[in-house]
Amino acid sequence: DWTMAAYKEQAIAAIRAQVGSGRVICGLSGGVDSSVAALLIHEAVGDQLTCILVDHGLMRKNEAAEVVSMFREHYNIPLVHVDASDTFISALEGEADPETKRKTIGKLFIEVFEAEAKKLGGADFLAQGTLYPDVIESVSFTGGPSVTIKSHHNVGGLPERMNMKLVEPLRELFKDEVRVLGRELGLPEHFIGRHPFPGPGLAIRCPGGVTREKIRILQDADAIYLDEIRKAGLYDAIWQAFAVLLPVQTVGVMGDGRTYEYVCALRAVTSVDGMTADFFHFDMDFLGNAATRIINEVRGINRVVYDVTSKPPGTIEWE
Ligand code: XMP
Repeated sequence: DWTMAAYKEQAIAAIRAQVGSGRVICGLSGGVDSSVAALLIHEAVGDQLTCILVDHGLMRKNEAAEVVSMFREHYNIPLVHVDASDTFISALEGEADPETKRKTIGKLFIEVFEAEAKKLGGADFLAQGTLYPDVIESVSFTGGPSVTIKSHHNVGGLPERMNMKLVEPLRELFKDEVRVLGRELGLPEHFIGRHPFPGPGLAIRCPGGVTREKIRILQDADAIYLDEIRKAGLYDAIWQAFAVLLPVQTVGVMGDGRTYEYVCALRAVTSVDGMTADFFHFDMDFLGNAATRIINEVRGINRVVYDVTSKPPGTIEWE
């Protein structure tokens, strides 16, 4: 894309002018915004940039590893991968209130990020994948639970505490433009077209208390569901699709024994902006097949249901 190629060169020049010989740190989330911001800054100032991935253990199956290998091996960008899953999961254990879960995750995220930034000896700049809509709305979230979108990636107060200035190279762009810029920077297509994923991750797709075992079960079920969606060629027709692990166990039969295991709910919606959404009309054979695979392949789940609620009155997430 000619326009975006020109924009990219201009943005790189602006980053060089702002950063000079300073050091930059960037928090990666696995999402397209922070990834594109990091790639752009790396093109501009090379190894003056260090990325930090705070891995809360609540990402999709294999997702943290994919981000690490893409940045380190494919792009050769210095990346610190902080496995903080024990910290996050033990803080969430026994906590069932959705808002408290979000706040706990947000608070820990900042603490872990700050500690890592200090270990690196600090930096002159903090990079953020802020988009134009974030700038104009200052992101107050009204469509669902009373939370601030991206609160998890919002490193509240950190730039001041550590005396860092912000670098926000995507401030003039909308999401679709960030995707075009990502392609321009060689970001793989499956990464660019990825469904939105909430900052608090799988913790809010696991109603009730979070445990490592529940997250493992949920990751496995979710990966099978998404695999079936991709194989059916439906991924790009869907805004968001994911599995939810319900805190309910039901009776089933397996061979000549009874089982007593978790229920998994599958969700898929179409939407333009996440503010309203319709449930996705799968073919029943598709759902039956996905359910069979999940029950056969994931130990811990013996029943699968499909959520046919639109938004409103429902929300996209379950909590
Ligand atoms: P709901 O469930 O309110 O979600 O219909 C609308 C969109 O927002 C995402 N979402 C979040 N994103 N932190 C985030 O970063 C959150 O706490 C959060 N809660 C919901 C949701 O995935 C959907 O895209």
